[in-house]
Amino acid sequence: MTALTPPSLRHENPFRILMQDLADERAATVPYPPGDTGFSLARTKRFIEDPLPLLLEGYERYGPIFTLRVLHSNVVFMLGPAANHYITVSHASNFQWRESHFRDLIALLGDGLLTTDDPYHRRSRAIMLPAFHRERIVASIGVMVSETERALERWVVGARVDVYAWTRKLATRIAMRALFGIDPDGRAAREIDAAAMFEQALAFYASAYQYRFLRTSRTPWARLQEASRKLNRLLYGEICERRASGRRGEDVLSLLLDAQDEDGGTLTDGQIRDEMMTLLFAGHDTTTSTVSFMFYELARHPWFADRIVAEQRALPGGAAVDAELLMSGGLKELEMTLEETLRKYPPAWIGPRKSVEPFEFNGCAVPGGAYVNYSSWASHHLPDVWEQPDAFRPERFAPEAKAALAKGAYIPFGGGSRTCIGMRFGQLEVRTIATLICGRFALELPADFELTIRQMPTISPREGLPMIVGERS
Ligand code: HEM
Repeated sequence: MTALTPPSLRHENPFRILMQDLADERAATVPYPPGDTGFSLARTKRFIEDPLPLLLEGYERYGPIFTLRVLHSNVVFMLGPAANHYITVSHASNFQWRESHFRDLIALLGDGLLTTDDPYHRRSRAIMLPAFHRERIVASIGVMVSETERALERWVVGARVDVYAWTRKLATRIAMRALFGIDPDGRAAREIDAAAMFEQALAFYASAYQYRFLRTSRTPWARLQEASRKLNRLLYGEICERRASGRRGEDVLSLLLDAQDEDGGTLTDGQIRDEMMTLLFAGHDTTTSTVSFMFYELARHPWFADRIVAEQRALPGGAAVDAELLMSGGLKELEMTLEETLRKYPPAWIGPRKSVEPFEFNGCAVPGGAYVNYSSWASHHLPDVWEQPDAFRPERFAPEAKAALAKGAYIPFGGGSRTCIGMRFGQLEVRTIATLICGRFALELPADFELTIRQMPTISPREGLPMIVGERS
């Protein structure tokens, strides 16, 4: 098993990547789709700081496929239902993740499920899938409830809470316990504040492009490396302890430790660390953003929160958490609000890829070896697909309206063989946290709060989410 490894990256040094990109572009055998292909620092800055309007303008001017030069390289964007289906499902094998323009993430995550391609990717997915079966996810609800209740104990009416930072801490603890059986109050986890380390590491991806080239001390890169080393201590410590004690459970870590191929080969500690780091990152960062954006919108539209609460209270047993109902998405008001939150703010907003062979889409040729991205965020805001896309309207996801959506129109969890492996886990977690908060508290935004969004690389509120805790009547 250890013999199967993902291919090495062609280059890791950012300057060599830049040179290689330029060479690949010169070697293209077909022209790039039309678009804004001249060098522009202003466009690059816009792409980093506020990409959504830029992508929507591109769609309006050029249609569902167009090129933008971002910093030094041409990047192809494909938007809308047909484009999403093309990249994630019907032609997925012509698109690879590993050499995409998000490959910088490999410095933190290593070679886990997110950053590898088939056949390595297929094998990792097969090993871990049993841990994401329905019954395993339902079994995690105990951890989700107890951790959320513990975190809510500190809330008092009138207090100001940064809901984004609060959720990051909570979601990290839930992921550690439910996915890996790590005790978040154990010695190692107390010494290393995993949520803070992720915040520190991920800040690299929110920094200006020019700083990302620097590799010296006190740069975003150095801070990423420092955080990664500390997180490694936590993860390798757990792997070591589990190997030594033989302790196993129903968690993903147990599956990774015991995975064997026909020749008896097993995964190395490094391979297990990479899968753990990937799941820990993907498993807490996206849910943190989703909970934050949901409560931001509920504060602006309190009548939706009232409906969620009324629905809970109408259940036999009142506001008690019902695992089956939460798992099935049977709380309709909550479900529509969650789906609309993920439409308006899909945390994993971009699907970065590199094309393998040249291809044609919507009458436009695209070279092989080109950066090609789909974007759920932009696709969820197309005015010819969504009526009043900027409005927060959970009723878009009432059963009949949802059934009428075009295939590929709504893709907060991606699609095809790379569909989010943690989708059910993430949905259950957000529903649980939202149910417990709504049952007890009404959250309000400070009068002067204005939402701006950063990408790090998932989207989240740039300044956190300060909210005032109010009593739920
Ligand atoms: C609201 C919560 C979540 C959202 C919106 C979300 C979204 C996504 C999206 C869009 C992708 C596909 C990216 C692409 O096509 O390049 C993805 C992949 C992935 N997600 Fe999630 N995710 C969520 C929660 C989770 C959780 C809780 C976990 C882990 C427990 C997780 C683990 C992963 C992994 C490992 C992948 C890579 C899958 C593969 O390539 O086979 N995600 N996620």
